[in-house]
Amino acid sequence: MRLHEEIRELCGQKDAVILAHNYQIPAVQDAADFVGDSLELARKAQNTDARMIVFAGVDFMAETAKLLNPQKKVLLAAKGAYCRMANMLLPEKLAGAKKKHPDASVVLYVNSSAECKALADCCCTSANAEKIVNAMPSDTVLFGPDKNLAVFVSKRANKKILPVPADGFCYVHKFIFLKDVLQAKRLHPNALFIAHPECNPDVQEIADAIGSTSQMLKIAQQSDAKEFIIGTERDMVYRLQKDLPDKKFYPACSTAVCRSMKKTSLVEVHSALKNETFEVKLGEGIIEKARKPIEKMLSIT
Ligand code: 13P
Ligand code: SF4
Repeated sequence: MRLHEEIRELCGQKDAVILAHNYQIPAVQDAADFVGDSLELARKAQNTDARMIVFAGVDFMAETAKLLNPQKKVLLAAKGAYCRMANMLLPEKLAGAKKKHPDASVVLYVNSSAECKALADCCCTSANAEKIVNAMPSDTVLFGPDKNLAVFVSKRANKKILPVPADGFCYVHKFIFLKDVLQAKRLHPNALFIAHPECNPDVQEIADAIGSTSQMLKIAQQSDAKEFIIGTERDMVYRLQKDLPDKKFYPACSTAVCRSMKKTSLVEVHSALKNETFEVKLGEGIIEKARKPIEKMLSIT
């Protein structure tokens, strides 16, 4: 039997749901119950009735699912699939910044550890960062770990944004250079350019639209344009092309690959389901504290 069918059969037998991020390889996207951006995946995790959640993505996404479902078994399909950007913010650093700015609210990108989330007032994703920051009661907001998202928000929100750490970044988006986008535009002169807010400010500046991975899909759906250059991880193009076969999508940079997202293949998903590995385990104290900023985010948006 093909791995895909076996995976679907195991999901039925074990009452499991597979949640996959838009950057997963095509075969994993095709085998999943739901494919989406960080916000949609958190919402799905919050609302699922399944007994078990298998996450095809990176660690912070599976942790978020666990925080919202402490009673359920949550598995990260691939061992060591971690978000490098999330690891750039340490709880001690955040605690130090809070001490220095006691009146500031703390908004953390969901791409952060559960330990850091436990110190935050609210979480956000790239789909709702501006809205969340504007909903904070203070004039100053400590925001981390992504500096580019912090710049994106500071241009739009009515608050003073202090990035923590000073220069957190996603290597996948940081290395999509302006020259890559200009070259893609020369090759596809009629295409609209959609960037992710994790891209560098100079890349964001020449974008026709900026959005989270699933917002990219909505933008392309609603646009009259037929061609799009996509400024984010390479496999996002597969998701877009699959949903909108009559339009054309080109990656802004074909080497923009998140290595952690590529650790999951059908073999890992199958093994996770069969052997119930790798279970997300978080202490009760952390769950209690880190769940609040996620629930707050979901209640605001
Ligand atoms: P999205 O929420 O836009 O899918 O982004 C998640 C992520 O990790 C981007 O690098
Ligand atoms: Fe983290 Fe960047 Fe990979 Fe997204 S693309 S999971 S931010 S390292």
